[in-house]
Amino acid sequence: MKSILVCTNHRANPNLPSCGARGAEALKQQITDAVGASGLPLGVKEIQCLGECDEGPNLRLIPGGPTFQHVDAAKIPVILKAAKSFLKE
Ligand code: FES
Repeated sequence: MKSILVCTNHRANPNLPSCGARGAEALKQQITDAVGASGLPLGVKEIQCLGECDEGPNLRLIPGGPTFQHVDAAKIPVILKAAKSFLKE
């Protein structure tokens, strides 16, 4: 199933940037709610680091889709629009 992969990682060193420290858990819930409301056949999963920690919160459409950086709730509509196109690929 195509999915949105949300990084929720808190790095071991709290002085280093991480998606979890930037509110990624709450963001994942907001995305889960938005996907549910949209009716899109899309999963929402967590991952522990996408390797772009300085740019978080980060998420990726999988398999093989784009990565989104600096994600906040305001970007969810843009991500769902991209996901609709991604589902047609
Ligand atoms: S902590 Fe999210 S990309 Fe590394």
